[in-house]
Amino acid sequence: MMYGILFVVIGLACLLLMQNIQKQKQTQPQYRQEDPSALSAYQIQLIQASWQGIIPIKEQAAKLFYARLFELDPSVKKLFKGKLDYQGDKLMTTLNVVVNSLDNLEQVETMLQAMGKRHIIYGVEAAHFETVGAALLSVLEQGLGDNFTEEVKEAWVIAYSLIADTMKQAAYGS
Ligand code: HEM
Repeated sequence: MMYGILFVVIGLACLLLMQNIQKQKQTQPQYRQEDPSALSAYQIQLIQASWQGIIPIKEQAAKLFYARLFELDPSVKKLFKGKLDYQGDKLMTTLNVVVNSLDNLEQVETMLQAMGKRHIIYGVEAAHFETVGAALLSVLEQGLGDNFTEEVKEAWVIAYSLIADTMKQAAYGS
């Protein structure tokens, strides 16, 4: 009889402990998750919140982006035939759409694939995506200042890889 009661009490204690752990897991931000190439809800939140810091300075951000890109790789300058102001505006608009669709990337997948294919026509090579990623991170760093924390940066690195990989896969199959 005593053992029976003890067994039930231990059982109940274990159940409570497990419920508590589960609750903590739910309330803590899911900063890291099992698939390192996927974004957690918390990381999407970080990206979308930090992007709000770029929106008011988007013209300057676009200018900074091209300046940094051409500094990192002067050879890509010749690929840009149109007006950079106009091009910058299109870039920021596209990034805005993608950032707002991060919780459902499938929604913009076809658009990214088509854009990736158009980039072949512009003379863009797969390796250029690395440089563009670096230029984008540099703009975010300058634009956000202290708000560009390590965790914000890590989230943006993953987001950019997801976007670039979708474009590259459609364009070059890699
Ligand atoms: C996440 C990656 C990228 C995004 C979101 C992006 C976005 C865009 C957008 C929205 C356009 C306007 C035309 C269109 O929609 O087809 C464009 C054009 C262009 N992009 Fe990208 N792009 C990316 C990567 C790259 C890379 C890696 C390069 C290599 C340097 C590049 C070079 C160009 C060029 C040369 C044009 C045409 C500009 C012109 O006609 O003057 N882009 N890009």
